[in-house]
Amino acid sequence: MQSETTSRHEKLHVGIIMDGNGRWATRRGLSRVRGHEAGVETIRRIVEAAPKQGIGALTLYAFSTDNWRRPKAEVAALMTLLRFYLANEVQSLVKNGVRLTVIGRRDRLPEGIATAITRAEEATADGGTLHLRIAVDYSARDAILNAAAKAAALTSLTREAFSQLVTGEAGLRDVDLIIRTSGEKRLSDFLLWEGAYAELHFTERMWPEFDAGDLAEALAAFHGRERRFGGLRAIVPEEVPSLSRV
Ligand code: FPP
Repeated sequence: MQSETTSRHEKLHVGIIMDGNGRWATRRGLSRVRGHEAGVETIRRIVEAAPKQGIGALTLYAFSTDNWRRPKAEVAALMTLLRFYLANEVQSLVKNGVRLTVIGRRDRLPEGIATAITRAEEATADGGTLHLRIAVDYSARDAILNAAAKAAALTSLTREAFSQLVTGEAGLRDVDLIIRTSGEKRLSDFLLWEGAYAELHFTERMWPEFDAGDLAEALAAFHGRERRFGGLRAIVPEEVPSLSRV
């Protein structure tokens, strides 16, 4: 059902916690790493589907600061997948008008990855169809903390200015919808500032099996909700509050 609150013509910012790779694989007698590989295939599918479904910005949670606690071999495999993704995907991202940026710490990544990230960001900088943000060695609380440290040097501060410090982007749209796959119902330190008013969608589907239809289902549920932003009545698109007016 089309809601009066959020027009299907608005370009949305969607965040996804890509969960369930390990369970998907072990249930099939495969290694967890095989699940992460299948997860990369899902990223390709969803990046292709997203702009067709009205998404202008897509933030994917690939590796949290807490994921360093996983077995060394699994961490190494995830870093290898990231390295391959950055090396092999850029051409197709450019062709499809996708701008890639990576959020999170870069100083703890294995050698060469930070440089590969910068190269991929530069190569895709003109993409205007979709802004793909991949969160790597990411913690929303750390992002807020780092922004606060930078803000301490300023004499005046607005929500917009602080938002830019947190996200590293001027004018990035707040997150409209956060999806988490695999049945878990937690935010796990993901987009806590920019997702302050995000709608939440939890699905039982494991990330490797998530597809364009599942994304459409999440968006249909989103469009069916009333977004009141703390007020009493539904907000029409042109009234979606800016950070300073919420
Ligand atoms: C959660 O599943 C998934 C992750 C921690 C990693 C997500 C990574 C990818 C999809 C691939 C690598 C990304 C890029 C950008 C190349 P889980 O392992 O926690 O699954 P489980 O909860 O079933 O164990």
